[in-house]
Amino acid sequence: MRIGMLGTGMVGQTLASKLASLGHDVFMGAREADNERARKWVEKTGGTAQRGTFAGAAHYGEVLFNCTLGAASLDALEQAGAEHLEGKVLVDVSNPLDFSKGMPPSLFVSNDDSLAEQLQRAYPKARVVKALNTINAGVMVDPGRIADGEHATFLSGNDSDAKEIVRGILASFGWKQIIDLGDVTSARGSEMYLPLWVRMWGALGDANFNIKIVRS
Ligand SMILES: NC(=O)c1ccc[n+]([C@@H]2O[C@H](COP(=O)([O-])OP(=O)(O)OC[C@H]3O[C@@H](n4cnc5c(N)ncnc54)[C@H](OP(=O)(O)O)[C@@H]3O)[C@@H](O)[C@H]2O)c1
Repeated sequence: MRIGMLGTGMVGQTLASKLASLGHDVFMGAREADNERARKWVEKTGGTAQRGTFAGAAHYGEVLFNCTLGAASLDALEQAGAEHLEGKVLVDVSNPLDFSKGMPPSLFVSNDDSLAEQLQRAYPKARVVKALNTINAGVMVDPGRIADGEHATFLSGNDSDAKEIVRGILASFGWKQIIDLGDVTSARGSEMYLPLWVRMWGALGDANFNIKIVRS
């Protein structure tokens, strides 16, 4: 599958490396075509992956991942170009974290709206699927490192076919407990989990944790 990775940070690089290792063709995009982190990442792949701008990645990918700073995701998608988002599965891994008042961050959108909904409203022809935003990057691509992979990850989005495509990608990473929360408004829940995630990170002193859903 052709993957357009929007983002050069820890999440973009981790997901891009995993997807490339599974045989996908990955194009990593940034604000500038000569982004240093993207250049180094492509070098690590042995030059098999591609790099360029957000627009280049969005044009290339059949499935796109939004791994940009939440506060900048709308700007990043504008740079990607509406024409390149049309009909594409857009896996939104971003979180609406507001670091302007220091740590712990607050959320710049919550309760009756979410960042995923903002992206979906701005690009109604994109098929936004919120996924993986509740987990540290290392665990995203290697769920088996905790509890034999028996812990939860969530999907939110309006397009059932798009969610099935994302479910398949997550299963290929080793995810077993993939819970479809419903339409894109359900992303409010997974995004509003972040304040708890941040506090658990502090309390546990380790980011490699997750939650497991148990029931009778
Ligand atoms: N870190 C984690 O483990 C984790 C886990 C779950 C979810 N998330 C979420 O995943 C997203 C990525 O996190 P991250 O830690 O990998 O990286 P990050 O530092 O949050 O974001 C890096 C990306 O944001 C882009 N960016 C920054 N400012 C921008 C602007 N003004 N306009 C357009 N693009 C801009 C950067 O573009 P350039 O490439 O051009 O510099 C870069 O590609 C975030 O939303 C984060 O909340 C992170």
